[in-house]
Amino acid sequence: MSYSRFLEDTPLIPGMMRLLDHTDLCQPTRLADWIHRRLNEGLTVFDHADIYGDGECERVFGEALMASPELRQKVQVVSKAGIVPAHRDSSPWTTKHYRAEADYFSEAIDKSLSRLRVDQIHTLLIHRPDPLLDAESLANALEQAVSAGKIQHIGVSNFLPEQWRWLQKNTRLPLVCNQSELSLSHTGALFDGTHEAHLNDGLRWLAWSPLAGGTLPSSVPESLLKAAREETGLCETGLAIAWLRQIPGAPIPVLGSMRDTRIEAALEGTRTVLPRPLWFALLEAMRQTAVP
Ligand SMILES: NC(=O)c1ccc[n+]([C@@H]2O[C@H](COP(=O)([O-])OP(=O)(O)OC[C@H]3O[C@@H](n4cnc5c(N)ncnc54)[C@H](OP(=O)(O)O)[C@@H]3O)[C@@H](O)[C@H]2O)c1
Repeated sequence: MSYSRFLEDTPLIPGMMRLLDHTDLCQPTRLADWIHRRLNEGLTVFDHADIYGDGECERVFGEALMASPELRQKVQVVSKAGIVPAHRDSSPWTTKHYRAEADYFSEAIDKSLSRLRVDQIHTLLIHRPDPLLDAESLANALEQAVSAGKIQHIGVSNFLPEQWRWLQKNTRLPLVCNQSELSLSHTGALFDGTHEAHLNDGLRWLAWSPLAGGTLPSSVPESLLKAAREETGLCETGLAIAWLRQIPGAPIPVLGSMRDTRIEAALEGTRTVLPRPLWFALLEAMRQTAVP
């Protein structure tokens, strides 16, 4: 069985949504050092979105790349566009809304490139499915951005299979991934065919909130965590990541923690295979119900 080869050598992707929470890392040289540590761990792909910190996360990241210019050739950036938060809506409606529109995306790509100080976004995602999407028109704009070398790949985020299939039908570019929530506390897509749709259609699953905000210790009985740690050597972070990576097609966790120790623990998880009964025991404990 062959699965998507997109980012196949990437064990996990550091997510930048919480960057501004780490004031120490918001200094360019400190963040550049942090990025160097990730590269030394073999992590080269970083997840952004134009709305994270209202663009500040991309901008601060770009400043770090300028502080250590050799990084620009070594990092690959995933970013997203298409959501307008209410406070960014300049209309009288001040309403959060989606803008998967050609002109909006063309401009959003240019703005992200300029904030990030990179020549190319590795993969651009449509952040949320937009019920007002004109798929052909958006696809044309994305194809032009690829032809111009501004983006290399396109993908989607939080899409259901029929939503990505409609977009795919309108473009000759392959949709390479879908970034959506997946963790031990968010497993519905594993049981309703969505997981298999990723495999069938060749989209790599990028799994956001893979640690479920660190809820394992409060949800899984201490005795199970202790036994799992003794058998595998993994802490709760490693267990959450090992559990996720074991799913066929190897979803790539988009990790929210920026702490070195938690990233190391997560990487340990990517190198560990859980015994199948333990995989189900963790699932059962989190769902608080046995598999039928
Ligand atoms: N496409 C989308 O719509 C979408 C939506 C949401 C997020 N994302 C992406 O996914 C990335 C990850 O999202 P996320 O941050 O929600 O994921 P996460 O990795 O599940 O959660 C990280 C958060 O959980 C905390 N945490 C983890 N383990 C813990 C523990 N054992 N004890 C206490 N706290 C613990 C971390 O705290 P510490 O900082 O202390 O480690 C951090 O605040 C984001 O950065 C973003 O790139 C995408």
